[in-house]
Amino acid sequence: MDILKALNWRYATKSFDDKKLLPEEKILNLKRAFNLTPTSYGLQPLKLVVLSDKTVQEKLYKASFNQEQVKTASHVFVLCVEKNIDQLFIENHFELVKQTRRTPDEVLKPFRDFLIEDFSKKNSKQLKEWATNQAYLAIGNMLTVCALEKVDACPMEGFDAKSYASILGLNTSKIEPVLVMPVGYRAQNDEFSKFKKVRRPLEDVIIEINN
Ligand SMILES: Cc1cc2nc3c(=O)[nH]c(=O)nc-3n(C[C@H](O)[C@H](O)[C@H](O)COP(=O)(O)O)c2cc1C
Repeated sequence: MDILKALNWRYATKSFDDKKLLPEEKILNLKRAFNLTPTSYGLQPLKLVVLSDKTVQEKLYKASFNQEQVKTASHVFVLCVEKNIDQLFIENHFELVKQTRRTPDEVLKPFRDFLIEDFSKKNSKQLKEWATNQAYLAIGNMLTVCALEKVDACPMEGFDAKSYASILGLNTSKIEPVLVMPVGYRAQNDEFSKFKKVRRPLEDVIIEINN
C-alpha cells in the first residue's frame, strides 16, 4: 500500500520551487536507480547527464518549448542512448561480466558471439529504437524511486534533442538525448499538484484470464 500511496502522490510536476535544491544523497540514489535498471541482454546502452546549473537550465528551457519545469528544477536528468552499439561495445560488456563474476571465457563466448552477430544485422534506426526502449524503462524506474523518496519529477519527451546536445556539449557521434526528467520540490503554486489523477477505470485496462 505504501507504494501505491507514493504513486498517487507523484504527478508530472510543471513548476518547481527554484529556491530548493535536492540533497546529493537523493541525487545519488536516482543515479543508482538509473544504473540498476534492467536492460535487454544487460547491455546498458544508456548514459545519464545530471545537471544543476540555472544558466544552462534557462537555455534548455527554451529548447523544451518553454516548459517551466526545466528552468525551475533543482536538477535536470537527460537520458541519452549510446550510438555505437557495435562489436567493441558488446565485447566490453562481456569483459565486465568476466571481471565481475569470474565467468570463464568459454562459457561467455557463445552468447557474446550470438549478440555480436545479431546486433550487426540491425541498422542505425533499429539500434536507436532498441536503445530508446531501454531509456523508457529507466525513466519509469527512476520515477518510482522519486515517488518513494518524495522527490518531484516530470518525465519529458517535449524537447529538441539536437539543441539539447549542442547546449550540453554532447558528442553526438557517441550519444544522443532521448528523454528528460527535471527533479526537485514542487512549487506551492503548481496547480497540477491539486488535480485529480486521470486514469481509465481498472476494468477497462485489465484483461483477466482465469481457469
Ligand atoms: C514518456 C512521457 C513523456 C512526457 N512528456 C511530457 C512533456 O514533455 N511535458 C509535460 O509537461 N509532461 C510530459 N509528460 C507527463 C504526462 O503528461 C503525465 O505523466 C500524464 O498526463 C499523467 O499524469 P501524472 O504523471 O501527473 O499522473 C510525459 C509523460 C511521459 C510518460
